Amino acid sequence: MSQADDAFVHHESIFEKPPLSLRNVHIMYKSRKGAVNAVRGVDLDLRAGESLSLIGESGSGKTTLGLGIVRLLVKTAKVTQGEIIYRRDGLEMDVGQLDAQQLREFRWRECSMVFQSALNSFNPVLRIWNQMYDTAKAHGWSDRRAVREHVLNLLRFVQLDAERVIDAYPHELSGGMRQRVLIAMSLLLDPQVLILDEPTTALDILTQRTIIDLLRRLKDEQRLTMLFISHDLAIAAELADRIATMYAGKIVEIGSADDIFYRPRHPYTLGLIRAVPKVIGEFEDLVSILGSPPDLVDLPSGCKFHPRCPFATERCRREEPDLEQVGQDHAAACWHWQAVEEEVADHPLHQSLPAQTIVYSGE
Ligand SMILES: Nc1ncnc2c1ncn2[C@@H]1O[C@H](COP(=O)(O)OP(=O)(O)O)[C@@H](O)[C@H]1O
Ligand code: SF4
Ligand SMILES: [Mg+2]
Repeated sequence: MSQADDAFVHHESIFEKPPLSLRNVHIMYKSRKGAVNAVRGVDLDLRAGESLSLIGESGSGKTTLGLGIVRLLVKTAKVTQGEIIYRRDGLEMDVGQLDAQQLREFRWRECSMVFQSALNSFNPVLRIWNQMYDTAKAHGWSDRRAVREHVLNLLRFVQLDAERVIDAYPHELSGGMRQRVLIAMSLLLDPQVLILDEPTTALDILTQRTIIDLLRRLKDEQRLTMLFISHDLAIAAELADRIATMYAGKIVEIGSADDIFYRPRHPYTLGLIRAVPKVIGEFEDLVSILGSPPDLVDLPSGCKFHPRCPFATERCRREEPDLEQVGQDHAAACWHWQAVEEEVADHPLHQSLPAQTIVYSGE
């Protein structure tokens, strides 16, 4: 029984409920320019065993949301509103109510996160084994031989030369190897949910391939529930069951991967899909989204996408739409989603699914 177990409250009939539910989550940074509204009312259910990809341009709030879920935000950031509910085995807890010790347990045993910036954050003077063993020990696992066997198995699972890597120093490993070690490390205490922030962004294309294959095995073989944060639609296309598009701190569309790629209903999603270079098409086909992401300190009125949106009307400049159902298990936040539907019907997106090795470099 871990410390975090104390925070669980027994609840009737929640076995079928999603492991993670965000309800109206708002996160703000304090900055010299003023309050940065990085996450503005996110509602999201992460369903058991699914992999959900959160996509959007740089600066849309994806990392902030991931850090908010595991409560690892910097001191200048604050969850100002909303709830993060975590469930396991018919029990549920409010992540916002956990104390420091419970949070540490939560991050390793329940919901672990592989950070975007972690590739260079290994302790340079510790061998991989020592870093892993220290963590296992801190969580009450003291049988050195059993831990070593477990770590070797994890390193094998991520397809590393386990015997060599376990006693290596971080600088002896390539970026791709370190990323695989990080994924192995995140699995050390067998979490139910894994959050991955841009797991392939810093890697070359061939190494990206091996990480994508590894993540697919995690999904298929381990049935891990995963939230992928990415600005790379190629990963989303390959791995996601569902995709959520984030713009200016809000989820503006969510649906199955097929809905998002072939039947987008939000102009921003449509722009993202059309901005993906196609292997078959010519480069002239590449249409990028005009304009730049909004200033989160001084947001536009109404729909935050209106200054860049080809479908915008007067109503869009005045009122911000909420997510509404636009299909079965498909929602979008746009006053004019039917116009987007017509546009897609006129110009189908059947060739737009990104090829496996093509990477959208929207940053
Ligand atoms: N420490 C910070 N202080 C102030 N603003 C920040 C900080 N970190 C991120 N932001 C701002 O929050 C917004 C969302 O950032 P982030 O969550 O990193 O987006 P993404 O991961 O989608 O690129 C951006 O406008 C960014 O500038
Ligand atoms: S609400 Fe209006 S501005 Fe916003 S995405 Fe839809 S059409 Fe564009
Ligand atoms: Mg980010």
